[in-house]
Amino acid sequence: MSPNQRKEDDSGGGPPAPERLPNHVAVIMDGNGRWAKRRGLPRHAGHRAGVDSVRSIVEQCAKYRIPFLTVFAFSSENWQRPQQEVSLLMDLFMSALKREAKRLCRNNVRLRVIGDLTAFSDKLCSSIREAEQTTAESTGLLLQVAANYGGRWDITQAARSLARQAVQGDIDPDAITDETLSAALAFSQVPDPDLFIRTGGEQRLSNFLLWQAAYSELYFTDTLWPDFDAAAFAAALAAFAKRQRRFGRTGDQVIDASPDRVV
Ligand code: IPE
Ligand code: IPE
Ligand code: MG
Repeated sequence: MSPNQRKEDDSGGGPPAPERLPNHVAVIMDGNGRWAKRRGLPRHAGHRAGVDSVRSIVEQCAKYRIPFLTVFAFSSENWQRPQQEVSLLMDLFMSALKREAKRLCRNNVRLRVIGDLTAFSDKLCSSIREAEQTTAESTGLLLQVAANYGGRWDITQAARSLARQAVQGDIDPDAITDETLSAALAFSQVPDPDLFIRTGGEQRLSNFLLWQAAYSELYFTDTLWPDFDAAAFAAALAAFAKRQRRFGRTGDQVIDASPDRVV
């Protein structure tokens, strides 16, 4: 753990005030393989343990009333892993969808899977649709699972869709703005992530939400994903609560505009 992280993680007790909590949390759930290796277990044991951590962070988000959670489950580059690991991840994804959908529904969580689903088997696609339908009426947390997702894929598919509309004469290319492109991305109705967590020690984006993370607060932790528990999440929230988000303005401007400023 870096000295910087230790300072950030020192929450000083108690959860942050609701207005200091993120509205949308995105997570690169990394470190399952190393977690298993350290225990002399096969990599798939780490992936299985990782599913338990997803269940736990979903509960935590609901507890803090955070409305949006997006987790990176399988990247467009993860197909390059050994065939056996890829099929195991697909099987695990399918069984988790079947097993967890009812629980999510009971907890008022809505599930949405984002990514290029055309690469998945028909069986997996119908399990995804079924799980989404089971939870469609939930009004609490929106859980987005990014599967066969890549930030570059997302921007490319948005560009393709806008180009198609331009060729058909439905939009004027000169009228394409930041907002038009955002609206064509895979999860357009959801605000950009405020807090972007990566577990497992690496400090990179690995082609996750490239466009949407433009102003996300990045939080890197050495904790491996299967060990990422309620306390680890509370530490990330405490670190986020201390950040000053300036969006290009000066620090003084942000303090002046703050609703809790004492005059
Ligand atoms: C993340 O854990 C899960 C997926 C990418 C599917 P890893 O499997 O990448 O774990 P490490 O990085 O090898 O420890
Ligand atoms: C990122 O982790 C993808 C997911 C967590 C699903 P990776 O383990 O695939 O990332 P790299 O290869 O180390 O950048
Ligand atoms: Mg990894």
